[in-house]
Amino acid sequence: MLAGGAINCPPEASALMVSGRKNGMPEAGVTEAKWAELDRTIADLFVNPDPVLHTAMQESEKAGLPEIEVSPSYGKLLFLLAKMIGARKILEIGTLGGYSTISMARALPQDGRLISLEYDPKHAEVARKNIERAGLSNIVEVRIGKALDSLSKIHTAGEGPFDLIFLDADKPNNPAYFEWALKLSRKGSVIVADNVVRYQEVAGIAGAKTFLEVIAKEKRVSATAIQTVGMKGHDGFALAVVTADI
Ligand code: SAH
Ligand code: DHB
Ligand code: MG
Repeated sequence: MLAGGAINCPPEASALMVSGRKNGMPEAGVTEAKWAELDRTIADLFVNPDPVLHTAMQESEKAGLPEIEVSPSYGKLLFLLAKMIGARKILEIGTLGGYSTISMARALPQDGRLISLEYDPKHAEVARKNIERAGLSNIVEVRIGKALDSLSKIHTAGEGPFDLIFLDADKPNNPAYFEWALKLSRKGSVIVADNVVRYQEVAGIAGAKTFLEVIAKEKRVSATAIQTVGMKGHDGFALAVVTADI
């Protein structure tokens, strides 16, 4: 966004654009706590109350899982993306307690399918219970194992193509996951990759810079990356649509 004196912008709109900012920089009062608070307000408007997701988070926390699930508004974004493309088949890499899994699976029709890959059996167990409680067990399958092994099996078994693929597991493997995602796609498939940015640098997450370069150079997709702020701090995701016949 432009700071003061935006071109082609009436003065009153320009004043609105710069409020809370000086010379394009956040004022001292703009803090992470305020971003988080606003994110909660947004979640309360567009997501909450959601007893199923709330319980899923509580159960994950009780079981000692790391609190690294997507935020409520991000989960809703995944739901919306799935709805927008009329997804029938979704693949997720990195289940944790099933928060994003449930968010996406809710967008599927009754005969839809979501496969989620998880390395840690404890995470998978918590996720399965959360998914069961969400009434989504008939649509969702959590597969335990190293994602690279599971992906290879999915490919061999011809279970693709998937309409939406969400990459959210161990970050250094993202370039390899992206390659598999392409193999398991069709023209029009959407690939979302979480945490391509973290705390003001792409290097804040292992291999993220390389991963962004991999996506940017890939001729079979059209893509971008978006930085986010909110209750998960400074973060970001990449979004790609497959433009080639796979
Ligand atoms: N998508 C979840 C968060 C996933 S956190 C949500 O938003 O709700 C990342 C998960 O990836 C963790 O549960 C971790 O155990 C799993 N993971 C890490 N390495 C993996 C691997 N090689 N294969 C499969 N899962 C892996
Ligand atoms: C972290 C956040 C994530 O969304 C993730 O998938 C992995 C790690 C983190 O904050 O460390
Ligand atoms: Mg993540």
